[in-house]
Amino acid sequence: MNQSRGAAKAKDGDDDGQSEEADGERRLDDDATVDLKAERAEYDIDGVLERLDRELVGLVPVKARVQEIASLLVVDRLRRRFQLESTPPNLHMCFTGSPGTGKTTVALRMAELLHQIGYIRRNKVVSVTRDDLVGEYIGHTAPKTREVLKRAMGGVLFIDEAYYLYRVENERDYGQETIEILLQAMERDREDLVVILAGYADRMDTFFKSNPGMSSRIAHHIDFPDYDADELLAIGKLMLSEQGYLFSEEAEEVFVAYLERRRQQANFANARSVRNALERARLRHADRLMSAASSQVTKTDLMRIEADDIRKSRVFDFADSDNETDSESETESDSETKG
Ligand SMILES: Nc1ncnc2c1ncn2[C@@H]1O[C@H](COP(=O)(O)OP(=O)(O)OP(=O)(O)O)[C@@H](O)[C@H]1O
Ligand SMILES: [Mg+2]
Repeated sequence: MNQSRGAAKAKDGDDDGQSEEADGERRLDDDATVDLKAERAEYDIDGVLERLDRELVGLVPVKARVQEIASLLVVDRLRRRFQLESTPPNLHMCFTGSPGTGKTTVALRMAELLHQIGYIRRNKVVSVTRDDLVGEYIGHTAPKTREVLKRAMGGVLFIDEAYYLYRVENERDYGQETIEILLQAMERDREDLVVILAGYADRMDTFFKSNPGMSSRIAHHIDFPDYDADELLAIGKLMLSEQGYLFSEEAEEVFVAYLERRRQQANFANARSVRNALERARLRHADRLMSAASSQVTKTDLMRIEADDIRKSRVFDFADSDNETDSESETESDSETKG
C-alpha cells in the first residue's frame, strides 16, 4: 500500500476509463467496470495460493483464511482506485498451534502474498523470540526492540512464542517495555509493518487476557490444528517426493507404525518430527547402500527408502519409554527470509 495510499492527484482521464496517478496506481472512473479475475491474475494471487496448497498438506481452514485475506486486499485496492476512502485493513495476526504445524511456513507465504499485492514493501519475514527483543539490564530493552523493528519495517515481524514477553510473576520484567514499544509500532506503523504473533493457543489466550492492548490490535486469529495420522503420512510422502525419494510398500507400512509411536511421545512436533525422521531414514538408507555386499546400485536403489531404514529407529527400541529426539531440530529464531 505504500506505493499507493497517498492522495496522489489524478492526471487527465483517458478513454478507457482509467487515468494514471502520480504514484503509478491507475485511478478508475466512477462508471468503470473491473474484472476481479483479471485483478487477481495481475497480482498472481493464485500463484501464491497454489504454492501454499502444493507445499502444505491439509490445513484447509488456514488456507481458507489466507484466501479471505487475499480477497480483502484485492477489494481494498480496487476501492481505492475508485477513490473510495477507507482505513487500510489491519493485518496484524496471531497464529496458534502446536510445534511443527506450519505456522512459520504460512507466515512466509503470507508475506509473499502481502508483498505481491503491494501491501508491504519487502517480501521479508524477520523471525524473533523474546531473547531478540528483551534486554538484560535497564536501558537495554528499548534499543534492542527498536533495532528489530527497524529490520522488520516494510515487511513482516514474526514473534514466536510471543507470550514469553510477558511474565505474570514479575511486573517489572523488561518484557513489558518491549510490549509497549510493539504496541506503539503496531498502531503507528500499521501501514508499513505486519506483526504476526505465534505460539500455543492456551498460553496465547492467557497472554491476551493480561495484555488487552495487544489483543485489540490483532485482527486475524488463525488456528493451526495438529495433524492426524493420515495427514502426517501424506506430509512424509510429500517431503520424500520433493527430495526425489519414495517409500517401498513395506517401508510405508512401517512408517505408519513409526508415526503411531512417535505421536505418543511428549516432544512430538508434528510435521517437523516427520521431517527429522525422514532425515534420519535418509542417513540409514545411504549407510545401508554403502555397506551392502554388492556395490552395484540402480537409480531406484538410490531413491527407495526400505522398511529397515525406518525400523532401525530408536522409536521401535522400547515399548513406550525412551523418547526419540528430533536431533537436528531447526532453530528458526532470528532467521530472515528474503524474497
Ligand atoms: N501441512 C504441511 N504439509 C507439508 N509440510 C509441512 C506441513 N506443515 C509443516 N510442514 C513442514 O514441517 C516443518 C515445520 O513447519 P513450520 O516450521 O512451518 O512449523 P511451525 O508451526 O512454525 O513450528 P514451530 O512451532 O516449531 O516453529 C517445515 O519443514 C514445513 O515445511
Ligand atoms: Mg515456526
